[in-house]
Amino acid sequence: MEMSNYCAAYEARNFRKFSGWTENQANVRKDKQEVGGKEVEVERQLDDDSILYLHESYIVTDGIYKDENIIFENVTDEWKQFCHETLSFEVPVYEPIEIPRAPARKARRPRPPADALQHRRVHCRVMRRPLALGIETSCDDTACAVLDGAGRVLSSVVSSQLEAHGPYGGVVPEIASREHLANWLPVSREALGAAGVAAGEIDLVAATRGPGLVGALLVGLALGKALAFALGRPFHAIHHLEGHLYSPFLDAGPGPAEPPPPRFHGLVLSGGHSSLFAVADGRVETLGETRDDAFGEVFDKLGKRIGLPYPQGPRVDELAELGDPAAWRLPVPACGDTLDFSYSGLKSQALTEVERLERRFGPLDAPEAAAPLSAGGPDGMPAGRAGRPAGTSLRPQPLLDLLAAFRAAAVAQVLDRLDRLARRHPAALLAVSGGAAANRLLRRELPAWGARHGRELRLVPLVYAGDNAAMIAHAALLRHARGLADDPFLAEAESRIPIELTGR
Ligand code: KG4
Ligand code: ZN
Repeated sequence: MEMSNYCAAYEARNFRKFSGWTENQANVRKDKQEVGGKEVEVERQLDDDSILYLHESYIVTDGIYKDENIIFENVTDEWKQFCHETLSFEVPVYEPIEIPRAPARKARRPRPPADALQHRRVHCRVMRRPLALGIETSCDDTACAVLDGAGRVLSSVVSSQLEAHGPYGGVVPEIASREHLANWLPVSREALGAAGVAAGEIDLVAATRGPGLVGALLVGLALGKALAFALGRPFHAIHHLEGHLYSPFLDAGPGPAEPPPPRFHGLVLSGGHSSLFAVADGRVETLGETRDDAFGEVFDKLGKRIGLPYPQGPRVDELAELGDPAAWRLPVPACGDTLDFSYSGLKSQALTEVERLERRFGPLDAPEAAAPLSAGGPDGMPAGRAGRPAGTSLRPQPLLDLLAAFRAAAVAQVLDRLDRLARRHPAALLAVSGGAAANRLLRRELPAWGARHGRELRLVPLVYAGDNAAMIAHAALLRHARGLADDPFLAEAESRIPIELTGR
């Protein structure tokens, strides 16, 4: 309880217009607390041992205590209920978090190492309003980003949870939720700091509402709702795929985002989705989707089977660069005449071939086989067969060939569906996104597809391919420009939600 109270005092600056109604309540307790070397007063009300309320009068900025003396009057029961449900924080939220500038207090949990906070960038001091803060916690990345009104990414911070999930070979939902709770403070501070923006300057707040792991989503969504309410700003509950869908229009550098055309097609390939969409004036229609395993998912499963560490997709992709795809023939299912995808047949066949190879070469998932891979060439692209990195030679060539054939079949299916799309639907730009849109072969093949069909192509910048919050803030800015916003009272986390419900 001590720890949580302390954190509450520290965080009060981010949640200024907090539950002022506690002022007139019984059961209010005042505590003295040391923050940043100064003693401050913290007022809290505890209904039970797990719920904590902040008093907005106590605002701490950089360790300085100020009494802003803001009190809500005539607060209705409805507001009180809202504060209970939305603005109160369960004590465990704060327990594992290290508070900077408090040397006297021993951190229970170290800050994530600097390299876990990826692509932290400050591009530009020219900012156009509105400033949007995005939050993404749908799976195993805790992400926060600040974009300006032109879609410039002022900062995009992603704290990956690789270390936490690594020992399990995949994402453990309960661990993901706890990690989000622990990572949020350093990640959001980093994002605001890198953008040079104070929380009070944010004009709109966006958080992912789904689909994803519901416990993980709840963390970011509750934070977003509370922040929007506390700042008195519009709130946007964003569909995760809507974020991906528009991400190819983000600039990889310091530039503004390209305005998406009113109509375009979107291909999203990730760990949970292989989907084709038609977008018209912000409304999204699903044209095709995965019937079983998703594109990224099968890379992960095959990689896990051969002992690659999580996340396996990029590693399989990298090893596939070293193999000969012509050495194996693997299936490319047609899915009738639809634009749907199916990858479970390819996965089963590849896993069967791995078993055959094991009869020849012995276990293929030995730890030494998971040797370090190449860092790749410029732009993250591989050095190629000639530049084969040390370590990967530990894998038998037939396995590398199998991986290459597997990747080629996976990409061939994408190109086949895109051919069908091009034949059936009038020419429109194709925007390709999602974590698996980082796939090297896919990125090499797509420009040729575009040229064949006379289609404009936008490939998501590698830095925004995987889950990130810049894409969430960006989708929110586009919705904001169309005059949309969500009611934070009603927005709920959903593990599954059709994308058709967004954009209106
Ligand atoms: O979009 P994302 O970061 O998270 C989801 O929304 O699922 O996508 C992550 C997925 C994982 O399955 C990962 O293995 C896969 O994308 N992935 C790749 C590559 N890079 C990431 N799959 C194939 N080739 C890659 N280069
Ligand atoms: Zn994603």
